[in-house]
Amino acid sequence: MPDDGCLSRSLGSNHFILPLNLCLEEAVVTMEHILRTMEPGDAIKIKEIIDLSFSPFIRFFALHSLDDEGRVLVVENQEGVIAGFAKLITFKERAIKYGCLLWIAVHPKYRLKGIASNLVNAGLNDLKDEGAKAVFASVRRRNFASLAVFKKQGFKRMNLIGLWRLFGWQTFKFLSDIWLAPGEVALIHT
Ligand SMILES: CC(C)(COP(=O)(O)OP(=O)(O)OC[C@H]1O[C@@H](n2cnc3c(N)ncnc32)[C@H](O)[C@@H]1OP(=O)(O)O)[C@@H](O)C(=O)NCCC(=O)NCCS
Repeated sequence: MPDDGCLSRSLGSNHFILPLNLCLEEAVVTMEHILRTMEPGDAIKIKEIIDLSFSPFIRFFALHSLDDEGRVLVVENQEGVIAGFAKLITFKERAIKYGCLLWIAVHPKYRLKGIASNLVNAGLNDLKDEGAKAVFASVRRRNFASLAVFKKQGFKRMNLIGLWRLFGWQTFKFLSDIWLAPGEVALIHT
C-alpha cells in the first residue's frame, strides 16, 4: 500500500492497515481498536463523549467545532463503539503551516488503556505528513491526565517568551488559532 501520508504508521508494531480506496477511508487496526476518520453516524457517540468529558462551557465549543474546518479522528473498539476522538486543525502563521490537536477525549469507560496516546500519536503523524512544521495543543494547567498524555508523546510546554520568539506580533493571532483559554498552557511538538 502506498504511503500517502494519511493515518498510516501510528500504532506501533501490532497493527495492520485496511487497504481501502480513499485516503480518508484508511483505518489503522490494532488487536483491539480501529483508528479512522469520523463518519456522519459517529456524531451522536462523540457528543456523548463530549458531554461526559468537558464542562458545559467547553462542551459548547467542542461540539460546534466538530463541523468546522479540520478533521476528526475516532477510535472504535472491538464492539464497534466509538471510545474516543481527537479534532485536528492546521493553520498558517508567517506563511508557515502548523497543526493543532484542538480537542481530545476518551469515554470514561475506556480511559487508561492508551487510547488517547494512540490518538495523539496518529494525529501528530497525520498533521506532520500534511506539512505542519510543528504541532500544538492547549491544556488546562491542572489537567494532569491530559498533560501526561501529551508529555508521553513528546510535547513540551511553551511559555510566552518562546511563543513570542516564534511568532512575534502574530502571537495573539496564534493564541486564538489554537483556542488557548485563560488557565491553559500551550504545548508544542516539533
Ligand atoms: C485526558 C484523556 C484524554 C486521557 O485519555 P486516556 O485514553 O485515558 O489516556 P492514556 O490511556 O493514553 O494515558 C496516557 C498516559 O497518561 C497517563 N494518564 C492518563 N490519565 C491519567 C490521570 N487521570 N492521571 C495521571 N496520569 C494519567 C497514563 O497513566 C498514561 O501514562 P502511562 O502509559 O505511563 O501509564 C482522558 O482522561 C479524557 O478524556 N479526559 C477528559 C477530556 C480532557 O480533559 N481532554 C483533554 C483536554 S482537550
